[in-house]
Amino acid sequence: MAGPVGRRGTNASQSIRGSRIAVAIVIGVLLGCIFAVLYPHGLFSDISNPTSHFRSRRLSKSNPKIESTSCESPEEVSKLKSEMTDLSNKNDELKKQVRDLTVKLQASEQKNGQSDSDQQIVPVSTPPKPGPFGTVKGTTINPTILPDPTINPRLAKILEKLTTQKEVIVALANSNVKSMLEVSVSSIKKAGIPNYLVVALDDGIVDFCKENDVAFYKRDPDEGIDSVAKSGGNHAVSGLKFRILREFLQLGYSVLLSDVDIVYIQNPFNFIYRDADVESMSDGHDNFTAYGYNDVFDEPSMGWARYAHTMRIWVYNSGFFYLRPTIPAIELLDRVAERLSKPPPAWDQAVFNEELFFPSHPGYVGLYASKRTMDRYMFMNSKVMFKEVRKDENLKKLKPVIVHVNYHPDKLPRMKAVFEFYFNGKQDALEPFPDGSDW
Ligand SMILES: *[C@@H]1O[C@H](CO)[C@@H](O)[C@H](O)[C@H]1NC(C)=O
Repeated sequence: MAGPVGRRGTNASQSIRGSRIAVAIVIGVLLGCIFAVLYPHGLFSDISNPTSHFRSRRLSKSNPKIESTSCESPEEVSKLKSEMTDLSNKNDELKKQVRDLTVKLQASEQKNGQSDSDQQIVPVSTPPKPGPFGTVKGTTINPTILPDPTINPRLAKILEKLTTQKEVIVALANSNVKSMLEVSVSSIKKAGIPNYLVVALDDGIVDFCKENDVAFYKRDPDEGIDSVAKSGGNHAVSGLKFRILREFLQLGYSVLLSDVDIVYIQNPFNFIYRDADVESMSDGHDNFTAYGYNDVFDEPSMGWARYAHTMRIWVYNSGFFYLRPTIPAIELLDRVAERLSKPPPAWDQAVFNEELFFPSHPGYVGLYASKRTMDRYMFMNSKVMFKEVRKDENLKKLKPVIVHVNYHPDKLPRMKAVFEFYFNGKQDALEPFPDGSDW
């Protein structure tokens, strides 16, 4: 369908172009007749006129052949000749470049027809020169966006009042998680962290924040979001955060997204590297699983080639991550929110990681975001806490930044125990719990 219609369009425009050309020729001929009558000796015949002299000098520079025929010495002639050769070489080079670029352009236009890569931004800069071997480094630090306070002036004011640092911890909460929020907020106060903001999803949380002097933000009513916020299950509410966080980034703030099942022991902003679009805590339980490893897959029937190497890493935890206000970070939020808003139903943490890690391949353009895994002892998950750290005399002396009770369903008692252990020196507070849950 599109083919024939398109061609018909081209035919029509060609015939219009043809008639325009004819009109232009007629006008040209008429003008020629008029000038022939008015200026029988030509337009530029007055040699004493300095501007016309200047014009001919300029002309001669770009076209050395004309001048060499008049009155130059032999050296000058040969110099001009070599200049001309250089120029014509350069011209050939440029022509070749144009050809190459046209080919590339056509190829990319063709590709755009089949894929969704047409939205990509092409950076314009001078080509970098690589330094000596071993000294070159790509950058992970993408430019921050231009902040736009008009997208949410009320939130912009709240943030301005809360912090001058342009970074903020954001926790979403509805009344279902109030008791955990309470422990989390006490730890925030003990650790002396000022820039913490609760996104209150219902009035119960608004009241809690007012009573406890916690900065909060209640969104303007929004049909689609509000029904999920009030009655939504755990995973549905988790999906909301990707939509809500976008505004913080658009306002120019870096955001440390925090679930409420987290105990703060130190100020995380003293431990963030800020060199990546996404900096996240890991679900891994040792260096391999947290930071990545080469997992060898064995298929004995392949004989000599029985071993296939695979790249593995335990997922980033979508309950505690830091985003810089950059285009790739915003794109990540959009991609995750988009996928969670459509069937099939998916777990936000799985989607978050798939968008972050799957590379481009035929039919798919991957996300180009830079990422950093947080230190697994500083930003500790509850598996590391209960399986390893509490049993090791040296590790027990460590002072983590946070402990995230993500691996255990009895979150509240474990959070309280972590709080007692780190803030009140209760050495046996962590003992009563099994390593994993008893189901
Ligand atoms: C684990 O990683 C940390 C940080 O890179 C490193 O300091 C430590 O030595 C590693 N531990 C082991 C057992 O490899």
